[in-house]
Amino acid sequence: MLNTTKKITAVFTAPRMSVAMAAMLLGTICLLPESGNAQVVGQCVNCHTMHNSQGGVSMSATSTVYQSLTKGDCVGCHTGGPTDLTDNNIPKVNHTGAPASTLAGGSFYWVATAGGNLSATGHNVKGIAGADVLGNVPPGGSALASQLTCAGTTGCHGDRAQANEYTALSGSHHAPNQNAGGVAGAVDGSTLANSYRFLNGTKGIEAADWEKVVSSAAHNQYYGVARTTDATVAGTISALCGQCHGAFHASSAAHAANDVGISFSNNMTSPWVRHPTDFDMFTVKAKEYGDYGGNLVNAYVPQAPVASNSIAAVKSNVMQVAGDAIVTCISCHRAHGSDQADLLRWDYTTMSAHGGTSTSGCFACHTTKDT
Ligand code: HEC
Ligand code: HEC
Ligand code: HEC
Ligand code: HEC
Ligand code: HEC
Repeated sequence: MLNTTKKITAVFTAPRMSVAMAAMLLGTICLLPESGNAQVVGQCVNCHTMHNSQGGVSMSATSTVYQSLTKGDCVGCHTGGPTDLTDNNIPKVNHTGAPASTLAGGSFYWVATAGGNLSATGHNVKGIAGADVLGNVPPGGSALASQLTCAGTTGCHGDRAQANEYTALSGSHHAPNQNAGGVAGAVDGSTLANSYRFLNGTKGIEAADWEKVVSSAAHNQYYGVARTTDATVAGTISALCGQCHGAFHASSAAHAANDVGISFSNNMTSPWVRHPTDFDMFTVKAKEYGDYGGNLVNAYVPQAPVASNSIAAVKSNVMQVAGDAIVTCISCHRAHGSDQADLLRWDYTTMSAHGGTSTSGCFACHTTKDT
């Protein structure tokens, strides 16, 4: 979906931009083609400052100097107003007001504004929200050395072997990915630029609008592996989560360290001890799961997405062949945050057994548990 409409856009929004600063940024407004998730486009000055000084005044949105000579940091560039999801073709993952809808990864708005219970509505990323009760310990995994960051060793994006966020991401925003012209499409995880959303090594198909508009036919295609043992797999979106939340994804050994009172060697089958991920729902379609997305039709359900072991094409219908309906961590969670506790995609308190005819949330897959 390549949208070539020309559009006047501001450079980026910073949370605490002064009026003078806003006026200065307005001076740099330019025409940018709104393309897909290609390389960045536009004049260098939109995003970079050579000396962080013009007329003796700071060029950066917060008066701070940033590495790679950018005018904002990861959070600043990727923050927008409540209705701003892709302004200037920057995917916005943090909002200054409650967004009515979000891109696929959700928003940090709720965890940023929250205290108390709301701190569980998102990942508490440095620069967005202070640490919550979990501190730097990802449940199911080992403590990070310091607070969670967007990228690098303590973050999710980029080369996690690099401590520095800019080193971890270096070159990615300007690199063409493997798709012709660098437009959105399938990426095989072979390099950082060829990784799904700069999540190093992760495969998938990137929707050009980051799911600003989403349907059964137009969506990110997540990559999954149809496991028969709970060994760690590579390249899946769930394995990415598993890099920090290991015991929730894979490995009997990791389970053993975390689960008291149960002894087993492999648990990749019903009855389960943890909700399955990287597990192919196609293999249990004779059970209630066969009605996911409607019996026989099995339309992909954007609210409860499933991954595929093939990134050849976006799947509009699933449960057609083995490997096309793989449960993932983000079948239930939004990676950045949501308006629900535990970053969930829906209100868990409304999931009541055998009380209605709902097909949403858990009932998208557990189709007989409401009726
Ligand atoms: C100067 C502004 C700016 C800064 C600073 C910046 N980004 Fe971006 N980012 C962009 C733009 C523009 C795009 C969209 C480019 C495109 O079309 O894919 C983008 C895209 C992305 C994407 C999505 C890639 C995809 O495949 O869709 C991720 C992830 C990302 N940035 C992470 C980061 C991280 C982490 C940092 C900090 C190290 C960062 N960005 C810093 C402007 C910025
Ligand atoms: C839409 C925003 C945007 C525009 C426009 C932009 N850049 Fe960048 N550039 C970034 C971001 C974000 C980074 C840091 C993250 C990274 O390296 O991916 C970066 C990093 C760089 C780097 C270091 C990493 C590398 O790829 O070598 C260089 C050099 C660079 N930019 C040069 C330029 C020049 C020259 C221009 C104008 C012709 C330009 N940029 C225009 C966003 C932009
Ligand atoms: C770089 C490590 C890292 C990765 C990768 C990671 N997380 Fe986390 N996660 C954490 C840390 C640290 C915490 C605890 C602090 C916090 O709440 O942010 C956490 C907390 C959580 C929470 C509980 C939030 C709360 O406050 O109760 C959920 C749910 C979660 N992660 C889901 C995911 C999912 C889903 C993925 C994959 C899309 C993922 N995580 C990937 C580090 C990570
Ligand atoms: C994307 C589809 C999907 C979604 C969404 C989903 N599940 Fe599941 N769930 C499965 C599959 C597939 C299994 C494994 C069934 C099997 O092996 O027979 C499973 C297993 C389970 C089990 C264990 C069943 C057993 O046989 O041991 C429970 C309990 C469960 N899910 C509850 C939930 C709840 C509660 C929610 C909502 C928070 C939920 N699930 C959302 C697909 C899903
Ligand atoms: C079937 C839906 C579903 C799937 C799939 C799922 N989760 Fe969750 N997750 C939940 C729910 C619901 C909760 C709330 C607490 C609970 O019920 O255990 C939760 C809670 C969490 C928490 C917070 C735990 C705490 O101590 O606060 C983390 C972290 C987490 N999930 C990570 C993951 C990761 C990583 C994966 C993939 C390996 C994953 N989840 C897959 C539904 C799911």
